[in-house]
Amino acid sequence: MCGIVGIACSEIENIGKMIRRCLERLEYRGYDSAGIAVIRDGSLIVRKGRGKIAELNRRLRFDEIYGRVGIGHTRWATHGKPSDENAHPHTDCRDTIAVVHNGIISNYLELRENLEARGHVFKSETDTEVIAHLVEENFKNVRDLFEAFRRSVEELCGTYAIGLISIYEPSKIFFARMTSPLIIGVGDGMNMIASDIPAVLEYTNRVIVLKDGELGYITPTEIYIEKDGKPVNWRERVRVISWSLDMASKGGYPHFMLKEIHEQPLALSNTLSGIEMENVRNICSLLAKADRIFITGAGTSYHAGLVCDYLLTELAGANVTTFIASEYRKYVNAINDSSVLIAISQSGETIDTLMAVRTFKERGCKVIAVSNVVDSTIPRESDMVIYTRAGPEIGVAATKTFTTQIMVLTILSITLAYMMERLREEEYKYLIRQLQELPSLTEKIIRMHEARCMILARYLKNRTNAFYLGRGLGVPIAMEGALKLKEIAYIHAEAYPAGESKHGPIALVERDFPVFFVVLDDYYVEAIVGNVMEMRARDAYTIALAPRKYVYKFAKLCDYVIDMPNVDYRVAPIPYIIPLQLVAYYTSVMRGLDPDKPRNLAKTVTVE
Ligand code: M6R
Repeated sequence: MCGIVGIACSEIENIGKMIRRCLERLEYRGYDSAGIAVIRDGSLIVRKGRGKIAELNRRLRFDEIYGRVGIGHTRWATHGKPSDENAHPHTDCRDTIAVVHNGIISNYLELRENLEARGHVFKSETDTEVIAHLVEENFKNVRDLFEAFRRSVEELCGTYAIGLISIYEPSKIFFARMTSPLIIGVGDGMNMIASDIPAVLEYTNRVIVLKDGELGYITPTEIYIEKDGKPVNWRERVRVISWSLDMASKGGYPHFMLKEIHEQPLALSNTLSGIEMENVRNICSLLAKADRIFITGAGTSYHAGLVCDYLLTELAGANVTTFIASEYRKYVNAINDSSVLIAISQSGETIDTLMAVRTFKERGCKVIAVSNVVDSTIPRESDMVIYTRAGPEIGVAATKTFTTQIMVLTILSITLAYMMERLREEEYKYLIRQLQELPSLTEKIIRMHEARCMILARYLKNRTNAFYLGRGLGVPIAMEGALKLKEIAYIHAEAYPAGESKHGPIALVERDFPVFFVVLDDYYVEAIVGNVMEMRARDAYTIALAPRKYVYKFAKLCDYVIDMPNVDYRVAPIPYIIPLQLVAYYTSVMRGLDPDKPRNLAKTVTVE
């Protein structure tokens, strides 16, 4: 979490404004506070405070800061509450050094005590501030700023992406990376560092993704990277990014989330056309040999994993265990070199998923990553990778990355089933054709149902609770629908297998309690009808997402029906989540909330 940025320009520029614009593209990583530090006329200008960037810019006038070199930060609070004092950048005792940081310095208390014993005075409760004082202290001894920075980084434990500037070397930005993501943007007459690619796209599309243990500095015209004391040849690592600035902008939509919901047809078709079948077959050969397949991810990515679990188990008869990434420890003694882990993470940086990947790899397990960000940490540390091609997702709520994850995971599952001769060729080809129809089908669903989803949102906006029930593949979709409503509309929503609702949750149901039913599989229709009746008998407000062929059936029983296309249940998770995303989006907006920046959340969770 937290986003950092640093810009080094040859000429004096409106650098405060440049940094502010970059930070706005990183705001999805945290928005508890923000700040900027710039070197001007031999001293540091630091402006920072609690709140979101736009409001801070009005109050602190970031846009009016001129200079050549500066750093910025947008924070998701870990150590120390969101406040003006705890906002980054943090400075040393004499305001000669400013630092921004994403991650957690786990030995900060010990470092802080040592530094305080040497007379350093701290202004914040953060772990980050120790970095500024540590460099100040080391600089006193070595009188070489880079050496002081290098020595300081050696003393840090934990996770970090660091940007540091100092009046002693005013044209340089020092950086270091361990676990938390950091890239360099390679420009003309300027260079940049940032937590993520969208931050630099306005200025350059050439990037270097830094690796763990690398540190160095940039100036407007120079890049120096080293690892273990040896210079790194970075030139061969410069990648040209195909994401455009437009892709990382709202493009006329009021929110990124709505834009990203609407982008799903394109994201699905790009993902489909980008899939290399040879890679899929290689991955499936590995899966076919596995004695146990583990699947992991967090939040929405975990829900995509549950869809894959269902398909691999039902279609390929695989031995699958799916777990929430942060709970990986339970399986430590169950892993061996015949196990395979599928690690799903749109950002490729989620720390819980990364820790699971590392632990499984250490025990000889092969890892297959599914990610949307090329060269991010999880794909880099995995044995094989399959990318979704959703384009940058900025809204905190995952939408297009979820449907594209399901697209690649469905292709993996049906290809494995086909290779294991559990799916006949005609059946396999039929399912591929069904998947190929999804881009146009999802486009139709958005066009036909957006208005109906708004009507439903009008009902939901005044409710405090909701249930999402499904059976079979409808369960992970119900879970994802409930997560969307919870995280952006702040309405308490729970998902259950519909059969389970009778074993406790139904006690909560009273008049007008909203209950969604995800009906995507013929096999479960009658059972779900029974569950609808049970909820109706308790005066619940029942809403069904049902295939057209059953619409009349459900229309007679339910208060509200969204008629879905008659697609095969094995590809239905993709179209079925779309109305639930739209309902959550409009409910959030009608409650006066900002769906792109839900409270207490950050897009990429890089702390355990
Ligand atoms: O980048 P990842 O896919 O690893 O992120 C995992 C979760 O943090 C993420 O899906 C989160 O649950 C979303 N905010 C849900 O909308």
